[in-house]
Amino acid sequence: MKIEKAKKLIEDKLPEKRYKHSLRVAETAVKLADIYDGDKDKAELAGILHDYCKYDDLGSMYQIVRQHELNSDLLSYGSEILHGPVCAVIMKEQYGVSDEEVLLAIENHTTGRAQMTKTEKLVFIADYIEPGRQTPGIEEIRDLAYNQGSLDNTIYEISKRTVLHLISKDINVFDATIGCLNYYNYSDQRVKDD
Ligand SMILES: [Fe+2]
Ligand SMILES: [Fe+2]
Repeated sequence: MKIEKAKKLIEDKLPEKRYKHSLRVAETAVKLADIYDGDKDKAELAGILHDYCKYDDLGSMYQIVRQHELNSDLLSYGSEILHGPVCAVIMKEQYGVSDEEVLLAIENHTTGRAQMTKTEKLVFIADYIEPGRQTPGIEEIRDLAYNQGSLDNTIYEISKRTVLHLISKDINVFDATIGCLNYYNYSDQRVKDD
């Protein structure tokens, strides 16, 4: 899909605030791709499209999970977790997005997972640090991402904060998020396989 078409798609569907967030995520992902030698085109496209399904009706999202036999654990979660995996299906099936890295980056942008591809990492981080985000301590994460030279350490810090936040609110943590946290914890001495 061409960038202009992707922008038009989200502009027509999403509220202005979310549309602008999506553009900032794409810009941030491109910036990170530049620093970490990633694929800017893939990062930009996935960044633009990642939240396309953010406000879809929950019932129709569950239907997509069932029809496409996605991870059935998704059925125990709400749209915050579902909108990524559902969006990847919609982009593939309805809009002909075929690039696997772009689809994975859309699918896993909220939860992360173990062994992410470069584009997944870029979009996952960009979604957390785009300039509109004002989470407490965000500057530390931005510094990690932009100045400390490690996507993986940045992912670990983001996952850790996300998990701590969810636990403090008694919100269940999706399995892939725990997988992500453990995998990118380099202070754990187990040998990583990539
Ligand atoms: Fe999202
Ligand atoms: Fe987002």
